Amino acid sequence: MSRRVPRWRDLRPLLQPRAPELDPVKRAHTLRDLRAAAAKRVPRSVFDYVEGGADDEISLRRNRSAFERVEFSPRVLVGGEVSTGTTILGRPAALPLVLAPTGYTRMMHHLGEPAVAGAATQAGVPYTLSTMGTTAPEDLKGTDLWFQLYVWRDRGFTTDLIERARGAGYTALVLTVDTPVPGNRVRDVRNGLTLPPRLGIKTLLDGASKPRWWWHLLTTEPLRFATFDGDGSLAPSDIGTKMFDRNVTWADVSWLRETWGGPLVVKGIQSRHDAKRAAEAGADAVVLSNHGGRQLDRGPAPLELVAPVADEVGDRLEIYVDGGVRTGGDIAAAVGLGAKACLIGRPYLYGLMAGGERGVARAIAILREELERTMRLVGANSITDLDREKVRLRA
Ligand SMILES: Cc1cc2nc3c(=O)[nH]c(=O)nc-3n(C[C@H](O)[C@H](O)[C@H](O)COP(=O)(O)O)c2cc1C
Repeated sequence: MSRRVPRWRDLRPLLQPRAPELDPVKRAHTLRDLRAAAAKRVPRSVFDYVEGGADDEISLRRNRSAFERVEFSPRVLVGGEVSTGTTILGRPAALPLVLAPTGYTRMMHHLGEPAVAGAATQAGVPYTLSTMGTTAPEDLKGTDLWFQLYVWRDRGFTTDLIERARGAGYTALVLTVDTPVPGNRVRDVRNGLTLPPRLGIKTLLDGASKPRWWWHLLTTEPLRFATFDGDGSLAPSDIGTKMFDRNVTWADVSWLRETWGGPLVVKGIQSRHDAKRAAEAGADAVVLSNHGGRQLDRGPAPLELVAPVADEVGDRLEIYVDGGVRTGGDIAAAVGLGAKACLIGRPYLYGLMAGGERGVARAIAILREELERTMRLVGANSITDLDREKVRLRA
């Protein structure tokens, strides 16, 4: 082999120095990148509150590993254009995606729920405000906002919440049913996390390297459960024990069906049996979910329930799934197995922690780009082309 001395004219085109991208949001190509950026922005105890699951975190890991069982069977030489558009509860959505309810969102970033709602509206997908939110339902703006409800012992107060959601124009009510008691989040106990965060020695040390986060926390409106704790005086321990009703039953679902009157979604279904009961109680949709592995540990991975539940009640209600959705390919898989849409929790919180509303927008954009690319590679031009001919779970 003969060699030669490289000439400047050959080298020059290869040497085009570009300033490194310092903005972590722009630099992110995957949700994993946004997650890494998020971990650098917030105190460890806050990141762990988002990231952690219950007990041994077996459900948390299974949620994710179920997606590794997905196998696509692509159709080639399909041609044509791809559209990720669909309908969710009869309303148009830019992709089969809903942003899930997450409590205490302003702890992750001072702009909190309004930033998430802004990004969701821009992207054309629904966003669900949590009962445990740090923004009141009346203060949130967006085109397709859902309200997540925990039923309270005081049914009068529950009715008031429903009326407030209706008055503020929320388009769906999401009843979360996997929370008769709070899950055992071991990371939070070990980290001594309190809501709102308190300035103990441990938290101060933990937060010392994140002065920007503390600055925002201390110079913006104090954190509180804005929907029900106007003056921030409620002790967090009271919420789980005194206010949530452990005796919510299927009769309450029928009651809500009547009281609310609009689209009703039951979130936290973990069996075919209960999906059928939800249909009988008049729900318009179910979310197959184990609360992102934060409640009962060792429940089934929601992705694995999609096809059996679709076979059972797919013609009676819409089926959504959440837990471990981290790529657009995951969304394609869930839809192919029979889900109408996926919910995401942590993925948009990574974006929020990394860069506020821009970060949430980036998280959604990454998922959309990945979904589109997967659809092209699988040979599905529309969401309805994703089916069990093209997606299966390996044994
Ligand atoms: C920090 C955090 C707070 C949450 N708070 C609520 C809540 O208030 N109500 C609720 O129904 N689900 C809540 N969830 C569960 C999410 O709605 C969703 O089911 C879960 O995050 C989906 O899993 P993923 O995070 O892997 O996407 C929360 C999840 C996280 C990560």
